[in-house]
Amino acid sequence: METPLKVYKGLEGIYVLDSSLSFIDTENGKLYYVGYDVEELVARSNYEEVAYLLLNHKLPTMSEFSAFLGKLRDEMRLGEEELEVVRFVSKRSGGMDALAAYFIMTQKDAVGEVSPMDSAVRAVGKAGSVLGNVIRVQRGDDTLNPDPSLGIAGNLVYLITSEKPQPYQVEFLDDILILHAEHGVPASTFGSVVTASTLSNVYSSIVTGIMTLKGPLHGGAAEAAYQQFLEIGDPDRVESWLERALSERRRIMGFGHRVYKIYDPRAKVVKAMAAKASEIAGGHVKNLYEIALRLEEAALAKLAPKGLFPNLDFWTPMVYTAVGIPPNYFTAVFAVSRIVGWVAHLLEYWKDNRLIRPLHNYVGPPVGQKYVPIEARH
Ligand code: CMC
Repeated sequence: METPLKVYKGLEGIYVLDSSLSFIDTENGKLYYVGYDVEELVARSNYEEVAYLLLNHKLPTMSEFSAFLGKLRDEMRLGEEELEVVRFVSKRSGGMDALAAYFIMTQKDAVGEVSPMDSAVRAVGKAGSVLGNVIRVQRGDDTLNPDPSLGIAGNLVYLITSEKPQPYQVEFLDDILILHAEHGVPASTFGSVVTASTLSNVYSSIVTGIMTLKGPLHGGAAEAAYQQFLEIGDPDRVESWLERALSERRRIMGFGHRVYKIYDPRAKVVKAMAAKASEIAGGHVKNLYEIALRLEEAALAKLAPKGLFPNLDFWTPMVYTAVGIPPNYFTAVFAVSRIVGWVAHLLEYWKDNRLIRPLHNYVGPPVGQKYVPIEARH
């Protein structure tokens, strides 16, 4: 008798590629980029340097970094034609759709003469400037020329607020960008690599990444967590809300992870940031934070025995809100950061490309069904 085929639903437990980019130590709750502890990178580095690290698999020397920053800053600028594309893609869609549409519409700028690495640096540089302007246009403001001297985080805050960013805003956003930059092969990175494996270009792989990140089980979880805190409304309502939510078999957004069955190391860092954000911003952010703290405690009591702990999206809503990012753009900020992870993966994958083409186990009707003309069917 033939052994039944084993189908690995969700590709759970399956290794699909070799990568030097990140190591997730699921036993000790640690995350490393190219061997560097992400907590140390958050404390001592910045997003641009981390982008260099991921693209080049090493930290830059002073002169390498200044050359890289020069290129990145050139790419952060948006010419009139690019601003026109931004206005167009911002007309109807949300942040993620507009970002993806921008990369679709400017694909021609990223192929041909441009090397994949240059195309990757271009995308990393453009993304924040594009998103900042998308947010402006969608709320009814004019576009604004990016200020590359502020760095990727500072420039994004500047575009959103039209004001010189406060140091705490830049620090928070820069740390958030570092923490979201790379994480192995979650759905969006896998999707991106699948597209790359067909030898499609860097920008189309980014589009796949953005569209895959959008879902609430992946990048959309931060906005969903924010909505969940709003729905609870008051710390005193946490326990009754949780009881009802669990009895209705609802998922607690910002809890659980396919890889971590212990506390997500990124969430530990963002939790401390959320505490600071709540002190600095007060008011609404403080209320969200107090709800989150109480929900964490109550939910851990029920869910920790099942290996469900807060992931980073549980704590980011407070930090994003303190920075001034509207909730419907949380996922797009995640995308701006993760673009470097996607492109770093595809550059790595292309060194030894193999078309990704898994198999499916056919479970349909017996083959050889008789075709009956439509008029004769009932
Ligand atoms: N709240 C309540 N129960 C949960 C949750 C949750 N957030 N997550 C999983 N479970 C339960 C699930 O109902 C199931 O229970 P049972 O065995 O009794 O049926 C069990 O845990 C296993 O669930 P699963 O769906 O097989 O686990 P998974 O590995 O596929 O889930 C996940 C991973 C992230 C999709 C899931 O935990 C989830 O939906 N979390 C909420 C959304 C979220 O926060 N996503 C952000 C992920 S981290 C950021 C990122 O990388 O994008």
